Amino acid sequence: MNRFLQLAAGAAAVLALGAAAAMGPHGGMMGGMGGMGGGHSHMLSPAMLTRQDAGSAADMAVVRDLFASHAKIRRSVTRLPDGVRTVTESNDPEVARSIQAHVASMSQRLQEGREFNVFSETLPVLFANRDRIVSKVEMTATGAIVTRTSSDPKVAAALQAHAAEVSELAQDGMAAFHRGMMRRMALGGGMMR
Ligand code: HEM
Repeated sequence: MNRFLQLAAGAAAVLALGAAAAMGPHGGMMGGMGGMGGGHSHMLSPAMLTRQDAGSAADMAVVRDLFASHAKIRRSVTRLPDGVRTVTESNDPEVARSIQAHVASMSQRLQEGREFNVFSETLPVLFANRDRIVSKVEMTATGAIVTRTSSDPKVAAALQAHAAEVSELAQDGMAAFHRGMMRRMALGGGMMR
């Protein structure tokens, strides 16, 4: 993939999030345009920008809500020798429901190997090794506790790195997302890595 395509794909992903924000959870634009790349995504790296499926628009809408409410999210991450235990919660019942919906849907995607990704370098590792991940997901009154471990050190490291990415997103919202996108492009590998 050349540099232009990488940048174009990046712009498409950001636009997809913007479109989700503009159109609301059931916005026609995500479905109509195919969201972030849609029918064109086969041209892009499957590692960084996943193909749209039936649940993508709804999942992206929840992510949009999480970004919008990131200041109301508190999160703690415990590094385990072989993975991670995360607690992500909010006192706002609506935000708590979004956290739970995201965790439930992403956990199901991970189990079924239906990748959902924009720009994360750790998620492709997790999806590729999903059969080596042991998960425990507990819903709490205000959010979710997620424990994921792996006996494969490479996968355990990816679990920890992804948890750190989520913490950054929860801390800084869209600013962190943009930062991550720029960082990846500046590295030169663009979205291919
Ligand atoms: C403020 C924004 C976000 C929040 C608060 C959030 C929250 C979470 C939480 C709590 C988990 C469970 C694992 C963990 O706690 O580390 C998770 C997993 C996941 N998230 Fe997000 N997320 C956000 C943004 C995103 C974005 C932008 C994407 C991709 C487009 C994404 C995709 C995933 C996937 C695929 C998983 C499953 C992998 C795993 O659980 O280890 N998330 N997210």
